[in-house]
Amino acid sequence: MKVGVARETAAGERRVALVPETLGKLTAAGLEILVETDAGAGAAIPDAAYVDAGARIVSTADLYGGADVVLRVQKPSADEVARLRSGQAVIGFLAPLIDPQLAASLAAKGVTAISLDALPRTLSRAQSMDALSSQANVGGYKAVLIAANAYGRYFPLLTTAAGTAKPANVLILGIGVAGLQAIGTARRLGSVVKAYDVRSETKEQAESLGATFIVLKSVADASGEGGYARQLTPEEQAAQQAELNGHIATMDVIITTAQVPGRRPPLLVTATAIAGMKPGSVIVDMAASALGGNVELSKVGETIVTDDGVTIIAPDNLPATMPAGASAFYARNISALLLHFVKDGAMSYDFDEEITAGTVITHGGAVVQSATKKLLEPAAPAAGGVA
Ligand code: NAI
Repeated sequence: MKVGVARETAAGERRVALVPETLGKLTAAGLEILVETDAGAGAAIPDAAYVDAGARIVSTADLYGGADVVLRVQKPSADEVARLRSGQAVIGFLAPLIDPQLAASLAAKGVTAISLDALPRTLSRAQSMDALSSQANVGGYKAVLIAANAYGRYFPLLTTAAGTAKPANVLILGIGVAGLQAIGTARRLGSVVKAYDVRSETKEQAESLGATFIVLKSVADASGEGGYARQLTPEEQAAQQAELNGHIATMDVIITTAQVPGRRPPLLVTATAIAGMKPGSVIVDMAASALGGNVELSKVGETIVTDDGVTIIAPDNLPATMPAGASAFYARNISALLLHFVKDGAMSYDFDEEITAGTVITHGGAVVQSATKKLLEPAAPAAGGVA
């Protein structure tokens, strides 16, 4: 079976789906690896390194024409969708819940679409495949470095002949995978870290990394399904924002990572809270997207400095800014998922098994994954409505 590694074409994307170090395991399983010319260039991996690891470098046409499975990071562009063939499989972050139409068009072409962002993450045997976690980890680390770079003072306490520098006070909002890595990184840089999340089980995790957990009186635990948070009610949200304002005003650096699956990220840092911050403070909104972010004034992909001197950074695709490190993790995740499907040198799908049922979005000409299928169903007519 031939496995193709596509060159990413999305703007700003520098990661690659496989790195040479991961090829050994795949070739040992009898797979032949094709790598599109310059696929690793963004991550500083030359074609020759893939050849040394046993791969063959091929043109775009030969990749899409020859591979049985195409591995990628981002979803395919319209041009790449046009190149995919019936019977072929594609694995990547296909975001079927955000872009169900892509799933519909892949199904129509007879392509098997397998999405890493649909992995049932709480299964322990899926942990090695959890690319959402590995990439969030990179993002949490990089967000702290970006904040430290933009902050005009030291992160650690420094005592020198020229005087003493106070440590930065850093607040991490949202203590999932990215938030935990942000706490660890900010602590390693010597700052004083506070952290907050609506899921009460994160208190112990934050404290074990050296952060002080903020308990809000206004919001009780808001744990939802699958280890995620539930959306707060408008009243809870308003109370949460008001109570957070007091903490925000005392901070030098804030990093926000809060997400609720399938919803607009919760607004945690309001314009009023930002107006209360000291000049020179820095906010990095990791949750910012086209839908909005955790910070009222943030704009994805932009850095804004308010009239009061607060810098608000809303980076787009942080993992792509650390392409070699992020690709190394991603490659292990996607290899583990690919090998999950390989039986006797071919792709095999057992839809009674949870990883397959979760990640295989389209197969045999149809959308098969239940959550995506639901999104594509025509909306039921409203009760009492005219058909
Ligand atoms: P995420 O990216 O969906 O959200 C990040 C954080 O934001 C979460 O901790 C969430 O509780 C928090 N959040 C949401 N609304 C908030 C609000 N209004 N105020 C403050 N914080 C808010 O989450 P991520 O990092 O993808 O995963 C979260 C959790 O999923 C993990 O911590 C874990 O429990 C579970 N998970 C479990 C795995 C496993 O069991 N192997 C693997 C990966 C994730």
